[in-house]
Amino acid sequence: MKVFIVYCHPSEDSFTRNIRDSFIKGITDGGNEYVMSDLYAMDFKADMTEDQYLRDAFYRNTPFTEEDILAEHEKINSADAIAFIYPVFWTEAPAKLVGWFDRVWSYGFAYGDKKMKMMDKAMILCTAGNPIEKLEKFGLLASMKKVMFGDRFFNRAKQMEFVVFDGMSRKTESRENNWDSNLQKAYEKGRDFFADAEEVFTVDDKFFTAVENSESGEVSEKTVFCYHQKGNVIWAEYSGGSIVKGFLIGTMDEKHNLHFNYQHMNSSGEIRTGSCDSEPQIENGKLRFNEKWKWTMGEEGTSVIEEI
Ligand SMILES: Cc1cc2nc3c(=O)[nH]c(=O)nc-3n(C[C@H](O)[C@H](O)[C@H](O)COP(=O)(O)O)c2cc1C
Repeated sequence: MKVFIVYCHPSEDSFTRNIRDSFIKGITDGGNEYVMSDLYAMDFKADMTEDQYLRDAFYRNTPFTEEDILAEHEKINSADAIAFIYPVFWTEAPAKLVGWFDRVWSYGFAYGDKKMKMMDKAMILCTAGNPIEKLEKFGLLASMKKVMFGDRFFNRAKQMEFVVFDGMSRKTESRENNWDSNLQKAYEKGRDFFADAEEVFTVDDKFFTAVENSESGEVSEKTVFCYHQKGNVIWAEYSGGSIVKGFLIGTMDEKHNLHFNYQHMNSSGEIRTGSCDSEPQIENGKLRFNEKWKWTMGEEGTSVIEEI
């Protein structure tokens, strides 16, 4: 399996570079391979041209001509997973990496007529000067995760993990104190990168609730699904909100997508039936499914269920 590493730090004399090297050692010791874009070493151009802006903002499908973007697209589509390693700068990635997203996550590749493959996993390893308590208390970690998971990786990676190496400012004692344990953690994240994938996708004995639904859907955040799995057979009972009692049964395919039929009685006493196909995604160990469903009577919709 291959991981594409996007690394961004202006200095070789940095903790982040050490994290990168430990992670890479873990990847190769785990029997996997990697390809890397070291954005500063490549002198990656972070700002977009007017031409690209016009294509990306006005959804023009004119072909790409920028060789450096095409090379990044090729690295993404020839890898199974992607990892980003960078220091937190003002609660974001360094500008060069933000610019990488602006240019590489382009129309006709990452959105629109999408050519980008679905990554098996996306991992972020970022170093931060602040302790994690501060990043959590002020909602800073939540906003970084929201941008990365909710926007940049949305529907582009099945499994997502955000790893923070906190308290690493040069002026704090914790930098030295946590140095070795942090490098060990980065090594293990690399070594076990693909190892846990099968296990996390099982739905057996997992509970879910609907966090989004189309208007004609009936399940809601008040509905709880209790899933079971034996081999590739999956089934669940669900109830709550406007669902008095519901059952579903189907299969999980080799890509962990679910295909099932459902039937339930709603609070108006009607029995409603339909079918659903859903794609899995994992956010920091929590499973969610992006569902496309269809009532037997014809109407279609989408919903998202998330592990509780
Ligand atoms: C311009 C700049 C902005 C920074 N902004 C933040 C920040 O918003 N939050 C934070 O926790 N650390 C911030 N830091 C600290 C870096 O994340 C810190 O330098 C890094 O994690 C330490 O590792 P290094 O030796 O690899 O640079 C910032 C550092 C710089 C230089």
